[in-house]
Amino acid sequence: MSKVTIDRIDFDVRSIRKQFPLLAQSVRGKPLVYLDNAATTQKPQAVLDTLSHYYAAGNANIHRGVYALSQDATQAYEGARSKVAKFLNAASPTEIIFTRNATEGINLVAQTFGRSMVAAGDEVVISEMEHHSNIVPWQLLCEEKGAKLRVAPINDDGELILDELAALLGSRTRLVSIVHMSNSLGTINPVRRIVDLAHERGIPVLIDGSQAAYHMAVDVRALDCDFYVVTGHKLYGPTGIGALYGRSRLLNDMPPYQGGGDMISSVTFEQTTYNELPHKFEAGTPHIAGAIGLGAAVDFLTEVGFDAIASHERRLLDYATGMLSELPGLRFIGTAREKASILSFVLEGVHPHDVGTVVDTEGVAIRTGHHCTQPVMDRFGVPATARASLAMYNTTDEIDHLVSALSKVREVFG
Ligand code: ALA
Repeated sequence: MSKVTIDRIDFDVRSIRKQFPLLAQSVRGKPLVYLDNAATTQKPQAVLDTLSHYYAAGNANIHRGVYALSQDATQAYEGARSKVAKFLNAASPTEIIFTRNATEGINLVAQTFGRSMVAAGDEVVISEMEHHSNIVPWQLLCEEKGAKLRVAPINDDGELILDELAALLGSRTRLVSIVHMSNSLGTINPVRRIVDLAHERGIPVLIDGSQAAYHMAVDVRALDCDFYVVTGHKLYGPTGIGALYGRSRLLNDMPPYQGGGDMISSVTFEQTTYNELPHKFEAGTPHIAGAIGLGAAVDFLTEVGFDAIASHERRLLDYATGMLSELPGLRFIGTAREKASILSFVLEGVHPHDVGTVVDTEGVAIRTGHHCTQPVMDRFGVPATARASLAMYNTTDEIDHLVSALSKVREVFG
């Protein structure tokens, strides 16, 4: 855990780790090696302090009270929206809708934009590497509308076959919904290129940024996408909070998602009119603390800086790829040229769940299973994979622990 110089940026992993109290613990008598960051990242002290301070000294409902506490809470909540807007480089905070997570962001678009724009015979295009959360909402919509879900295939390295995606885009395509970075393969998709292909045909694009947004700077205006979803708990922030970016022209035309308080302008039994953006899409008391905590998380990420984070994680990924490649019988699933921070693999003759269970006895936390991407597992002909996923606080020492724990798997299973 030494201080390393990367691309002229000093990245002091030791001081980064000190800001994450959870990482200092032992599990099963061994120092914790947390390598399940694609499932959720740990939280820095700045986020923990923000949450605790909010509940200890700032808790009040928002947009409702004339008293100081409520006005301060409103300001903190709307301040967090501005931070997320800046983080994603949205044109305005009104283009940021707080959601429970990325899944809810996608469902919101499916149930509002989708239900009003997709008719019988229309098509929605996704890819073979999508998370279930970017498959099932579209299946539900297509089933309801009599529309068709079209799926762009991937190659043996886990890369999207762009020509095949382009060939799917036609006069009946109403939306392309595509993942920025695959959670089970690590592949980074050429999303700007995909947006261009779709826009040439007048088709809007949603990007699922759940995995990408904590590894690289996201600029929704540079990407020119129409919707972009993120989830707070992967951005080193709280669970139960996420954000949907939407182009205001589209958000304005979309019907509300859920009905309730705060999303209305006026209500009578005869007629209800709706609030303006972004409140039109935020019915009921939102996750106020979560949003404020997410604001603290994006402040933290901005302070560390994506140049430093990406360089450090690149170095770790290269190191880990080299070390794991040496292990007999290990096969990577996901070898795209453009990939980040994810090592998905199978060990010949050992079920991935057994891999996960044995490495856990060594204090190493990885995820095993289908990673909510069953079609990816089918594509590669495996029931599941073991997946180590990296974050800014991981170290080469921890990769060495993973390798030695995997050697134990071999000792146990031969
Ligand atoms: N989608 C998360 C993962 O990949 C939960 O583990």
